[in-house]
Amino acid sequence: CFHGIEPAPKDPILGVTEAFLADESPHKVNVGVGAYRDDNGKPVVLECVREAERRIAGNLNMEYLPMGGSIDMIEESLKLAYGENSEYIKDKKIAAVQALSGTGACRLFADFQKRFLPDSQIYIPVPTWANHHNIWRDARVPQRTYHYYHPESKGLDFASLMDDIKNAPNGSFFLLHACAHNPTGVDPSEEEWREISYQFKVKGHFPFFDMAYQGFASGDPERDAKAIRIFLEDGHLIGCAQSYAKNMGLYGQRVGCLSVLCEDDKQAVAVKSQLQQLARPMYSNPPVHGALVVSIILKDPNLKSLWLKEVEGMADRIIGMRTALRENLEKLGSPLSWEHITNQIGMFCYSGMTPEQVDRLTNEFHIYMTRNGRISMAGVTTHNVQYLANAIHEVTKS
Ligand code: LMR
Repeated sequence: CFHGIEPAPKDPILGVTEAFLADESPHKVNVGVGAYRDDNGKPVVLECVREAERRIAGNLNMEYLPMGGSIDMIEESLKLAYGENSEYIKDKKIAAVQALSGTGACRLFADFQKRFLPDSQIYIPVPTWANHHNIWRDARVPQRTYHYYHPESKGLDFASLMDDIKNAPNGSFFLLHACAHNPTGVDPSEEEWREISYQFKVKGHFPFFDMAYQGFASGDPERDAKAIRIFLEDGHLIGCAQSYAKNMGLYGQRVGCLSVLCEDDKQAVAVKSQLQQLARPMYSNPPVHGALVVSIILKDPNLKSLWLKEVEGMADRIIGMRTALRENLEKLGSPLSWEHITNQIGMFCYSGMTPEQVDRLTNEFHIYMTRNGRISMAGVTTHNVQYLANAIHEVTKS
């Protein structure tokens, strides 16, 4: 009965990892997936995570978490996103559930949107993380796009972005990247966020923040929550997807949080119960281990400050690699401007390379990255940066 099923197309990001793993060249470089590596190109387990795991060992039973997930993990996640002393947390106005990392949080929200606002649409930036399109597509929420990136300046197309916000029907849903925009590495400035928030207020739009990289933009998770805090100050109701994949290196643990700020505590209880209802037939309740790791780290002041130091360390190594990549390209006499490598922030550099140039990097130099020209700076090291710069120069010079 399954005849006629065609193989699914390769995932534009995770498919790159598959191709990298199959390559036997000793020179191969993976700057595809957004996963942090140390300067030897090795995956990193943070010391705060190791310590949390030592504390868990032997003390954990394997019982189900509640349908909404770990209460402690959710409480700590809300403090990170909404602020340690947020009135909204105290007033219990936020409906929040543990989610299967950022993807799971976005998907749960998209399903919630479809169930309770079946006629609504979602405005998605151009470009965005490829999976955003899949998530809202599979939730059957119609998608519209809004301008974001300006290919010539390799920065923000603020004027067109504002026009699109103004021209969208009142009360539209917008997906916003809270910080360290993926794939462009281009974020609005604080002033621009204020203008965006103001215009959202005028139009009655609903902002849904995907905050997959809190800590990776500035090195400080508190500072990276600025956009959300501006919207909160302005009195918006918001949604927020949080992930601990990147900032705690808990990629495969699939731990995150979905929150929706509601009008009052009664509404928050109702919304939370509906989110749980959506989760129950999909996966019943979320996994326990990663949630325990997160809550142990965030509840212990010493472990939390170790975590903050380690996040800053990861962000700093990436910033160092941005400078090194740009300097190497300039030393090679590249006729192009590579200023955007150091202007953009977070885990990615949106290089401006064409899909054909990326294909040459892969076929001739065994360098693996997504065909939209995105370089995961987390995969760049002092050992491969010169090789990478040389290859980029070769494919872009003529
Ligand atoms: C990425 O953009 O590379 C990451 O968010 C990993 C993923 O799941 O796509």
